[in-house]
Amino acid sequence: MARTRPTARRRVELRNGPAGALQRHQVRVLKEFSEVPPLLLDKHRLLLILVNLISNAKQALSAQDNHAHALTLSVRLLDECNLRICVQDDGEGIAAENLTRIFAHGFTTRKDGHGFGLHSCALAAMEMEGSLTAHSEGPGHGAVFVLKLPAHAVSGSS
Ligand SMILES: Nc1ncnc2c1ncn2[C@@H]1O[C@H](COP(=O)(O)OP(=O)(O)OP(=O)(O)O)[C@@H](O)[C@H]1O
Ligand SMILES: [Mg+2]
Repeated sequence: MARTRPTARRRVELRNGPAGALQRHQVRVLKEFSEVPPLLLDKHRLLLILVNLISNAKQALSAQDNHAHALTLSVRLLDECNLRICVQDDGEGIAAENLTRIFAHGFTTRKDGHGFGLHSCALAAMEMEGSLTAHSEGPGHGAVFVLKLPAHAVSGSS
C-alpha cells in the first residue's frame, strides 16, 4: 500500500481565504469568518481541499443558470480543539443517492470530470485527522461541504 506523506503543520491565517478568481465568473463570494487565531495546519492539504471544493462549487453554479450565483465560505472554531470550514453553493445540488457516491474514486457526473477531486479531498481530510461531509437538499437546492479539522493553536498566539 502506498505510504502517505506525514502531515506538516504550518501557521495558517484562515481569513486570507482563496476567493479572488471567482469574481471573474460572476460568483458572489460571501465570507463568514469568525475570529479564528492563527492555527497549525497542513497548508498543502488544506489548499488541495479548498481548491477542489471551490472548483466544484463553481462548476455546480455554472450548471444552474437561473439565478445570481453565490458561494459562501465560512470558518469557525466549534470549540478550542475543533475547526469547521464550510463551502456552500446554491448551484445544481446533489441527489440523495449520490451523497456518498461522490467520494468514490472515479465517480463523476461531469462531461469533462475525472471523479478524482472529492476522493482526494476526503483522503486529505482523514490524513489531517479530520473529516469531510456533503449535504444537499437535492437537485436545484445547492450543496454544502463541511470540513472538520482538529485545531492546534500556534503556541504564544492569543
Ligand atoms: N458543489 C457541488 N454541487 C453539486 N455536485 C457536486 C458538487 N461537488 C461535487 N459534486 C458532484 O460530485 C462529483 C464528483 O466530484 P469530484 O470533484 O470528485 O469529481 P469531478 O469534479 O467530477 O472531476 P475532477 O476529478 O476533475 O474533480 C461531481 O461530478 C458532481 O456530480
Ligand atoms: Mg472536482
